[in-house]
Amino acid sequence: MRAGFVISLAAMALFLHAHIVRGQEQKKAETPAKEEKPEDEGIPITSELVQKSCSSCHKIDEKKRMSRISYRRTTPEGWQQTIKRMVSLNKLQIEPEAARAVLKYLSNSLGLAPEEARPGAFEVEKRMIDYKYSDKDTEQVCSKCHSMGRVMLQRRTKEEWELLVAMHRGYYPLSDFQAFRRLGPPQTEPGPDGRPPDNRHPMEKAVAHLSSAFPLKTAEWSAWSANMRPPRLQGRWALSGYQLGKGPVYGQVVISPVAGAEDAFATEIRYTYARSGQQVARAGKALVYTGFQWRGRSVEGANDATALREVMFLERDWSSLSGRWFSGAYDETGMDVQLRRIGSDPFVLGVDRGALKTSSVRRAVKIFGVNLPATLAPSDIDFGPGIKVTRVTGSSAESATVEVDVARDAPVGARDLYVSGAVRQGAVVVYDKVDGLKVTPLAGLARIGGINFPKQ
Ligand code: HEC
Ligand code: HEC
Repeated sequence: MRAGFVISLAAMALFLHAHIVRGQEQKKAETPAKEEKPEDEGIPITSELVQKSCSSCHKIDEKKRMSRISYRRTTPEGWQQTIKRMVSLNKLQIEPEAARAVLKYLSNSLGLAPEEARPGAFEVEKRMIDYKYSDKDTEQVCSKCHSMGRVMLQRRTKEEWELLVAMHRGYYPLSDFQAFRRLGPPQTEPGPDGRPPDNRHPMEKAVAHLSSAFPLKTAEWSAWSANMRPPRLQGRWALSGYQLGKGPVYGQVVISPVAGAEDAFATEIRYTYARSGQQVARAGKALVYTGFQWRGRSVEGANDATALREVMFLERDWSSLSGRWFSGAYDETGMDVQLRRIGSDPFVLGVDRGALKTSSVRRAVKIFGVNLPATLAPSDIDFGPGIKVTRVTGSSAESATVEVDVARDAPVGARDLYVSGAVRQGAVVVYDKVDGLKVTPLAGLARIGGINFPKQ
């Protein structure tokens, strides 16, 4: 039994190699000449390195399009996964440095536009969320084994969506039973609406949906790829973040260019956990793919155990970056981060404890910022209706400690905080009583880990 299974898998791999890799060619012969041929869409590959690394299996046509490769677009993570899979399943041999260069070329030339990447940001930011996709049928078929995010961050021709399904069925034959094929006999009775039953297999419905929802050619990519360029990010950035269990984080990042590379940067990072006062200094490196996708890594000192990966989206005006920094070993461990470019004007980042109870007297609040004036008077600081600053007990360029009184009848709700003309919207919230307590994340995690991963 077992031997038979192994042999049939080997045969399957051979079949895949012969038919799937040359898929474009195969279809060509079958497609009637008059139909618009989807292969006309393919994106030329002008990188000699990609041609050299991949063309032993992926054919190059007269328009420099390569079979399979030219017919799909995705994120750097998507390309990385494919290249890794080419190595592990298809015996591609490639040096790490060449793989990185191939990855960069493909992510930039066959990438996603910001509008296309954003809805699937949770996937690359490794957010543990319960995602609900709009098309239920497709969700059921394609999120049984991995996240829907992986799927939504792909753009492909219809033929490529079909070949992707074929790849799953070839390498993972169980996918037919687990998700792809309808089990049981076809329906014969019309539905309640009188229409004939839809007897397509779930995978056929999914391919139909995916081909129209996530096609290779889109207006977004045409516009973005024509306008794309390496961003100039050097300078000083204000950091604000939030880490579950540890609260708000405030600090600064200095981004410097790396000589000889337009899209590579070095970072000097420092921040403070506002509640505990714990200070952190990190140094890192980053690459920006496709003009907007920041992928970095930083460590404290030279300690690899403190490494955080950085996945952030750059706004079009090059003045704000936002996303998530996470450990990689455990996706749960990480923080939401926002960077905003700063000049020499004062900038308010936030406060240590933003919830202020009505009828409070001489409540201490620490304000975090950048370029704050060396001396501050209570009148320079405005928390809004019902909150009075009675005293400034300390101030520096990066923080100020103040005492506030909150009136008994202060209206409940969020307040913008002004310091010397700079504003932080919704920096504090006035409340009168606690109505409930919410614990996040809702799902618990038992202690796992040990030899390969740190214990949690
Ligand atoms: C030794 C042969 C071989 C080499 C070299 C090779 N591939 Fe592949 N590739 C395959 C085979 C076989 C398939 C079809 C089966 C599969 O998807 O694994 C494939 C499929 C693909 C697909 C479609 C996968 C999908 O998600 O549907 C992409 C994209 C791809 N390869 C990219 C590359 C890139 C980029 C390189 C060069 C860095 C490369 N391949 C090098 C054999 C190879
Ligand atoms: C039975 C489990 C299973 C189901 C169902 C499934 N996948 Fe996958 N998928 C996998 C596995 C396993 C891999 C490859 C291993 C890996 O790298 O995680 C994979 C890889 C992929 C990749 C990356 C391919 C590449 O370029 O290397 C994409 C994209 C993908 N799946 C999309 C889909 C879509 C679309 C559907 C629904 C039609 C689907 N998957 C349903 C198990 C599944």
